[in-house]
Amino acid sequence: MRLLVTGGAGFIGANFVHHTVSNHPETTVTVLDALTYAGNRASLDPVADRIDFVHGDVADLDLVDDLVGRVDAVVHFAAESHNDNSLAEPWPFVQSNIIGTYALLQAVRRHDVRYHHVSTDEVYGDLSPQAQAFTETTPYNPSSPYSATKASSDLLVRAWSRSFGVRATISNCGNNYGPYQHVEKFIPRQITNLIDGVRPRLYGAGHQIRDWIHVDDHNRAVWEILHRGRVGQTYLIGADGELDNKSVVRSILAAFGWDPDDFDHVTDRPGHDRRYAIDASLLRSELGWQPRYVDFRTGLAATIQWYRDNESWWRPAKADTERAYREAGERICFAVRD
Ligand code: NAD
Ligand code: DAU
Repeated sequence: MRLLVTGGAGFIGANFVHHTVSNHPETTVTVLDALTYAGNRASLDPVADRIDFVHGDVADLDLVDDLVGRVDAVVHFAAESHNDNSLAEPWPFVQSNIIGTYALLQAVRRHDVRYHHVSTDEVYGDLSPQAQAFTETTPYNPSSPYSATKASSDLLVRAWSRSFGVRATISNCGNNYGPYQHVEKFIPRQITNLIDGVRPRLYGAGHQIRDWIHVDDHNRAVWEILHRGRVGQTYLIGADGELDNKSVVRSILAAFGWDPDDFDHVTDRPGHDRRYAIDASLLRSELGWQPRYVDFRTGLAATIQWYRDNESWWRPAKADTERAYREAGERICFAVRD
């Protein structure tokens, strides 16, 4: 199979490329990535001689049409992915996430190429602590500019599948953690803070709940859906990893041998979603997928070790990332209601 992987220099995409090259060497991989601030060519260094890399934009209709015409399938990871950035400046999210998906859909339609769309649980909005987990039929209800653009792109995929017969599948996954994740995101931000001797930063009271999954488990599910999933179907990907943010911070502090209260509460995210939770029964029963990382602390320990061992990978982005948080108005809050 000849595969086009968009966003392959980003966190999940790079891990997907590593997984594919190691486990499916019969697959030819081309990566298309714009190398935004979130893309890092070094994430593909270990496989550089086994893939083709194209530096370009998924919203470039001519480029995308040309590349799609040369492959059998597309896995679309490329996106602006950080909620906080979408609150500061939404336009790149509209351009990359909506127009980029449109460009790919037109190309796969024209060339009759199989398409897998990587999406997020955030399209369903947030849940109260008692509510049932999301399923494939939960109505869309996005909260942030980021999740609204991801929801928009999912709806384009559904329409192109139904109206034009595009052979598409969609997956909606929860919060990933693992190697090669940008230091702007919650877990790598706190790990790299602690490596630098800086206290972790918790938005608001830290009661928000996310459904964590190791990136390798996500990518094994994507591979299964691409090869054995039903065309036209949406699959939720989750590993029963619900944890509140304060517990995650405390697990990271424990792994570093720090006191459980050695963190700072900082300004909360506007519109902050309370809880995400995924019911992945369909994926498990239909495709037989199971997560391998069933113990969060084991996956977290491996991730911490990776950041300790790969400081040259993350260090160049750390100071700018922290400066951006400060310039966006992040402040330590001394009186937070628990
Ligand atoms: P990331 O920000 O780490 O990487 C995104 C990659 O896309 C970068 O390499 C960037 O250069 C590239 N990119 C951005 N705009 C582009 C454009 N216009 N053209 C070409 N390349 C472009 O993101 P991630 O965390 O790896 O997320 C990958 C995908 O998975 C996204 O679609 C995201 O919505 C989805 N997702 C992420 C998570 C998560 O927890 N990180 C969970 C569920 C779904
Ligand atoms: O649910 C899937 C989504 O998970 C993906 O679609 C997104 O691309 C991905 O970024 C992630 O979104 P979140 O907004 O949940 O992830 P983030 O890492 O930004 O934050 C996780 C939680 O931690 C969230 O409740 C905000 C909080 N947080 C975040 C940062 C950066 C903090 O408390 N402190 C922080 O410093």
